[in-house]
Amino acid sequence: MAQDHCDCPEDPPGRPTTSTGVDYEVSDRVEQLIEQHGEMLEDGMLPVKVYNDEEIFEAELRRIFGQCWVFIGHETEIPEPGDYAQRYIGKDPFIFVRDEEEEIRVLFDSCSHHGSALCRAEQGNTSHFRCPYHGWTFKNTGDLTGVPLKHQAYQGLDAEEWGLVEAPRVENYKGMVFASIAEEGPSLEEYLGDFKWYLDVHLDVGKGGMEVIGEPHRWRADSDWKSGADNFSADSYHTAYAHRSVIEVGFAADEISGTPGQETQMHVTHADSGSTSLRLLEPEDEIYFGYPEEYVDTSNLSEAQADMAAACGAATGTIFPNLSFIHLAATNDPDEDLDGFFSLRKWQPIGPGTMEFWSWVLAPADASDEYKERAYDVAVGTFSPSGNFEQDDLAVWDGIADAAGSVFAEQQGFNMNYQMGMPGMSKASIVDDFDGPGTAWDDNLEEGTCRTFHGNWHKAMSGEDVGMSYPEDHI
Ligand code: FES
Ligand SMILES: [Fe+2]
Repeated sequence: MAQDHCDCPEDPPGRPTTSTGVDYEVSDRVEQLIEQHGEMLEDGMLPVKVYNDEEIFEAELRRIFGQCWVFIGHETEIPEPGDYAQRYIGKDPFIFVRDEEEEIRVLFDSCSHHGSALCRAEQGNTSHFRCPYHGWTFKNTGDLTGVPLKHQAYQGLDAEEWGLVEAPRVENYKGMVFASIAEEGPSLEEYLGDFKWYLDVHLDVGKGGMEVIGEPHRWRADSDWKSGADNFSADSYHTAYAHRSVIEVGFAADEISGTPGQETQMHVTHADSGSTSLRLLEPEDEIYFGYPEEYVDTSNLSEAQADMAAACGAATGTIFPNLSFIHLAATNDPDEDLDGFFSLRKWQPIGPGTMEFWSWVLAPADASDEYKERAYDVAVGTFSPSGNFEQDDLAVWDGIADAAGSVFAEQQGFNMNYQMGMPGMSKASIVDDFDGPGTAWDDNLEEGTCRTFHGNWHKAMSGEDVGMSYPEDHI
């Protein structure tokens, strides 16, 4: 005979709310490799092994992506209540969503019942997420609102305790949303530190702010995520060689290519969590990354920042760990003028020596639809899966992962050279009166920017806070 009452406990146990905060132990081999990495970096070298190693990768997921601020997306991607997109922190799946009250949230994409993923489309609009497994339903705030057969199956369940879990820290810097899955740590502003000064030049130069156009492009490559972060941090030394053919056929101007001997002033600089290269013309040239004057507004920039924006035809940079950008005057047709676009790029770790590129195209929000279309086309022609610059980079980065995973490199203790710009190596010298923060050089024949990225990698992998102060003996 069926029971007409529930014989479950009067007061079922609640959901634990505290994290365990487990420290991640690594093997002695990995500990030694991290230590060796730090020692070698002081001499301007790197053990190639860290670019393709299973244990290093697992440690990166926990010590870097489990701790640092990681870029999630731009607020203009989800302008309406209910807009959402799938995103990742390390390899962990999250839902980037604007809820009914317009609050932006980063929800762990795992049902609180038995853990299935809720989000089945890469992006869309919804007021609720319904789990495909047993049908639990959650509002886009993460609150649990529906449990099938609740009165028979889950009478004592306290729905308030069983909502979706959110990334513990989510912050928005001028439209750029970052999250950290660590409960504690520096605020996003503290983390970005002095690099905000450079970031502001890019985020505040466009009239109406910057806006994402379309969906991010995504594609996979047999390259380690660090290859992209290192390159954009910024290795402008490669531009004149790896991208020579693109410049020769006229898709970008020689004077902003970073080719030594050009009239352009090249500055590479780093500050705290980031580093950047800037190709500066004379300020009176007013190139503003290729944007037509009517779409430029520098009223939120300081005079020094506005001068830099006016002079800058190309800039790349990386914010540790895996967000980079390029702001570029270019064209997809040698017969057309250069036009500007801004690309945010995320080097999504997939496995050791394997990553997924994510690339967002942005343009000034108040630009005409016609201009935004043009900016998008230029970005597709240069930095996208079919972009000419992009394919040059893809053709060279996978060799690094191959070498890093090789037995020969392991047996030889094969190292990479990052000594350019160190004493006795190049003519690059520090600009004492440079307007921006950090340390700036007068030439791109300098790899301090890349060493900044790898120095931050070493710090994070050693459990220290990210944020570089450049060692005196490297200057
Ligand atoms: S796993 Fe989601 S409802 Fe069961
Ligand atoms: Fe490149």
